[in-house]
Amino acid sequence: MKDFNLDSTNIPKHVAIIMDGNGRWAKKKGEMRIYGHTNGVGSVREALTAAVEIGVKYLTLYAFSSENWNRPKDEISALMDLLVQSIYNEVDELNNKGVKLATIGDIHFLPDSCQNALTEAKERTKNNSKITLILALSYSSRREISLAVQKMTKEVVNGELESKAINEDLISSYLSTSDYPDPELLIRTSGENRVSNFLMWQLAYTELYFTKILWPDFKKKNFYKAIFDYQKRERRFGKTSEQIIDLNV
Ligand code: IPE
Ligand code: IPE
Ligand code: MG
Repeated sequence: MKDFNLDSTNIPKHVAIIMDGNGRWAKKKGEMRIYGHTNGVGSVREALTAAVEIGVKYLTLYAFSSENWNRPKDEISALMDLLVQSIYNEVDELNNKGVKLATIGDIHFLPDSCQNALTEAKERTKNNSKITLILALSYSSRREISLAVQKMTKEVVNGELESKAINEDLISSYLSTSDYPDPELLIRTSGENRVSNFLMWQLAYTELYFTKILWPDFKKKNFYKAIFDYQKRERRFGKTSEQIIDLNV
């Protein structure tokens, strides 16, 4: 925070992060991919601490995509074990920090041990309100949208919903993120400049920030740097720059 003169009146409410580059980080060190994932947990702690410090209200972390089920079995099971272990290790600290844990994605596809750890941690932290930490697990944005369309269609067929009532707000309310505002800022590490099926509807007007830093090297100062970069941008939402300046005076 001290290195960057952040404007406390312009802190994004919701920051989403695609935590990428664990495998390459490990490879560079001559280690197995899981070593990178294990070290990535420290970066989760850094990002969360930084987010709490500056008053971000929602932090969504892409931890495992639906497509990640196609990885080698060993890597998947090591990742699931790491998830369970990290939740049990961190839950007291999350509670102390006032973090409410939430998830999006097909949680029922995860092993029982993960589901149990998540259910317990969510229950323990449910009354916290400093920040909501949303873990995207077995998450696919296209699947999320497909499920929403299925649900709406069923309600239309049953006469519970009028098709002309389907608008942007209604669609948002059928997504797994219905309780949260859209992210103002998306960070992706590791130098990949893509969205990888993450929050495609919700990112419609999100500022995108790409950094070459590999996720296990991502520290609090990198988080602040991303916020600083965000604060320098002019969010126009289709208007002209002159209109935005007029609004600000
Ligand atoms: C991100 O790191 C973590 C997950 C997708 C679970 P990667 O494992 O994708 O790391 P790279 O992209 O191979 O370096
Ligand atoms: C995206 O990372 C998913 C997560 C960070 C959990 P990937 O490394 O799986 O993405 P692609 O496949 O390279 O786009
Ligand atoms: Mg990757």
